[in-house]
Amino acid sequence: MSKVTIESLLDKKKARRPITMLTAYDFPSASIMDKAGLDIVLVGDSLANVVLGLESTRSVGTDEMLTFTKAVRRGVKEALVVGDMPYESYQVNIEDSLKNAKRFIDEAGCDAVKLEWFKEAPAVTKKLINEGIQVMGHIGLTPQTADKLGGFKVQGKDADTATKLIEEALLLEKLGVFSIVLECIPDTLAGIITEKLAIPTIGIGAGPGCDGQVLVLHDILGLSGEFRPKFVKQYTDLSGQMRKAIEQYKSEVESRLFPAKEHSYTMEEEEAKKLI
Ligand code: KIV
Repeated sequence: MSKVTIESLLDKKKARRPITMLTAYDFPSASIMDKAGLDIVLVGDSLANVVLGLESTRSVGTDEMLTFTKAVRRGVKEALVVGDMPYESYQVNIEDSLKNAKRFIDEAGCDAVKLEWFKEAPAVTKKLINEGIQVMGHIGLTPQTADKLGGFKVQGKDADTATKLIEEALLLEKLGVFSIVLECIPDTLAGIITEKLAIPTIGIGAGPGCDGQVLVLHDILGLSGEFRPKFVKQYTDLSGQMRKAIEQYKSEVESRLFPAKEHSYTMEEEEAKKLI
């Protein structure tokens, strides 16, 4: 596989070849994803929930995100690495957004940043793009401001709210974003937005009509506990497998089955005798 670029993603859209994206938060997962040939690795602020055990993505800070983003960057050679800007880095004080976006690019080595839609999203997007930063948009259900959207609910179900989402997508495209995440919107609406845009749409809970798909890594691996939204497909049960392995380790240590001879280092008998 060769290096994924914004141009190669556009080519995929034109050729109607689906774009693949997952979230990653650490070096080993990112490097496995890269070797598996994924197009985009997103260091999502879902890190707050699935890695840090926090209730809200609003609780993760810029410095924390940057630590994990650097680890992901070290694991990726070919895929496009997108850093998800946390709430505090651009929605609390929009004056800080450029300085913080530059940290994701210059300090953490991201190829692009992702911003969720909010009132000032167009202004922030414009500011970043004017400085040469590649931006991915995110509309529909935007978890950082879910409280303003009536909670974690499907967005754009009626013609008025759907029209608003189409307008947001068109505006972001006009401002120069290279791609837009569509989260939790009806499949028909996602299909319409995808047809209207020249840039790729990446869906999560937005149906098969998007140019690409993204899911949270921990959700597809079965590491997210009981809560599983309708749009998630769990591909394996890693938490079950991990528990089994950990229980077996515990039992083998307790019964002295581990460590065995092959896990131990030896010394010459002559040398050992000198110690007694
Ligand atoms: O933070 C995240 O994981 C995301 C996506 C799933 C799109 O923003």
